[in-house]
Amino acid sequence: MKSQPLRVAILGAGYIGTDLLIKIQRSLHLQCVLVVGRNQVSAGLRRALKMGYSITDGGIAALVDQSHTFDLVFDATDAHSHQEHWNQLKPLGKVMINLTPSRSGHMIAPSINGDEILNHANISLISCGGQASVPIVNALSGLFPSIPYIEVVTTAASPSVGRGTRLNLDEYIEITEIAISTFSKASQVKAIVNLSPAKPPPIFRVAISMMTDEADPTTVKAAVRKAAAQVVTFVPGYHITACEVFKSGQVFVAVEVQGRGDYLPSYAGNLDIINAAAIMVAERYATRAAASCQ
Ligand SMILES: NC(=O)c1ccc[n+]([C@@H]2O[C@H](COP(=O)([O-])OP(=O)(O)OC[C@H]3O[C@@H](n4cnc5c(N)ncnc54)[C@H](OP(=O)(O)O)[C@@H]3O)[C@@H](O)[C@H]2O)c1
Repeated sequence: MKSQPLRVAILGAGYIGTDLLIKIQRSLHLQCVLVVGRNQVSAGLRRALKMGYSITDGGIAALVDQSHTFDLVFDATDAHSHQEHWNQLKPLGKVMINLTPSRSGHMIAPSINGDEILNHANISLISCGGQASVPIVNALSGLFPSIPYIEVVTTAASPSVGRGTRLNLDEYIEITEIAISTFSKASQVKAIVNLSPAKPPPIFRVAISMMTDEADPTTVKAAVRKAAAQVVTFVPGYHITACEVFKSGQVFVAVEVQGRGDYLPSYAGNLDIINAAAIMVAERYATRAAASCQ
């Protein structure tokens, strides 16, 4: 018997929300029943309507009013709004996938702790830089007894970053540093973000520099390759462009993510890496819901 897809809603119809909607259309396990914004004339809401989706500009109040229509919400607004959104949805028993860098929610990087998804109703997807770097730093942390310092520099093309992202850059830095530190156990962590106005827009990339004890290049490269291969299973455009091990013990890894070009051109891998993670997490709930109906 064919199972029903999980009914989902998207809160925030900006760059992330719109790219996510296009990706959800391809999912066999998810059905978007509502796209929620706060401004009827926003490009994202108009586009969703044109694509045939139900929309509302009533924000969280409208979402609560229509809570019987969905099971899971993706929050693609901004970090300052997220906590209030979760406060309103939690008593209704909804699952929330938080794509903002608010500190609320259990941090998930699907290739590392994806098994923990079903134990939590509020999932934090950290940040685009976090999703790109955490699998690598986590893999390398297994090779060294201690890591004194990790620095992660994320470069995203300015035209791929909406106002919501720009409003919460401090929170982006904070949650990215927390995630790198949690998943690597490094003593000191620094996250830096560059919204590049260069033309043509640069592809989304992350440069990871790590101080370690003396490192064996072959072991390091094998660990990085293995971690990347796990991410590629759900983010096809994820690839390692450099992996260098210096005699001083410094390790440098560069990652690029080529997007599928769903909403923005393929340089916008920042949209793809977090939205692919969001869909993977939501599909786990969908599979569980389907199994419990059998
Ligand atoms: N772009 C990226 O590369 C990226 C990657 C990973 C994560 N993120 C995170 O995703 C979030 C969205 O980023 P974005 O680049 O998509 O920004 P965006 O284009 O400005 O999208 C945010 C959307 O949410 C709407 N919104 C804000 N507060 C709302 C509320 N309380 N109720 C309903 N709608 C609300 C905004 O409406 P208005 O138009 O009325 O302001 C806007 O349409 C940010 O937290 C960002 O840090 C972004």
